[in-house]
Amino acid sequence: MLDKRMQDAFNSQINWELYSGYIYLSMASKFADLGMSGGQNWMTVQYQEELAHARIMFSYVLTRGGRVLLEAIEKPEAEWPNGLAMFEEALAHEEGVTARIHDMATLALELKDHATYNFLQWFIAEQVEEEETAMDWVSKFKMAGDHPAGLYQLDKELGARTYAPPTPLVEIDAAGG
Ligand code: FEO
Repeated sequence: MLDKRMQDAFNSQINWELYSGYIYLSMASKFADLGMSGGQNWMTVQYQEELAHARIMFSYVLTRGGRVLLEAIEKPEAEWPNGLAMFEEALAHEEGVTARIHDMATLALELKDHATYNFLQWFIAEQVEEEETAMDWVSKFKMAGDHPAGLYQLDKELGARTYAPPTPLVEIDAAGG
């Protein structure tokens, strides 16, 4: 059975993952507004990943006999001047997510909840990747600057991303949710 403090932390993080998805969906809309369909695609895939993160946590709480309680999702920003600003915000946001996941792992250890500590390792590794990817795009956008040819090339690269459900979610779905 999940300790109440751990359950509260999961419920808060499920909300935060959904909020993350909302931010990225808003960025997808802004990329569309800027005429960058590749950026729109990339952010839409990121939105799907965040929903997957929320579902993985949702499933874990239920597995541990906990109760998921959904809260209101904060309204995301809608306007950014360019792709660089969006990826800079994505990076700052992901650093915040990392800190939250680390706090959850610390709480799990305090509670001697080693199952949850083990569960969170996937998210800890995932956050390393999330930050690295955002940093990479920030560098690329800085290099491209305002050059149309550079931005065109970047947009093509962003358009190549495809969504693949993360392994834990594939397992959850195979087991019937
Ligand atoms: Fe679910 Fe982007 O962290």
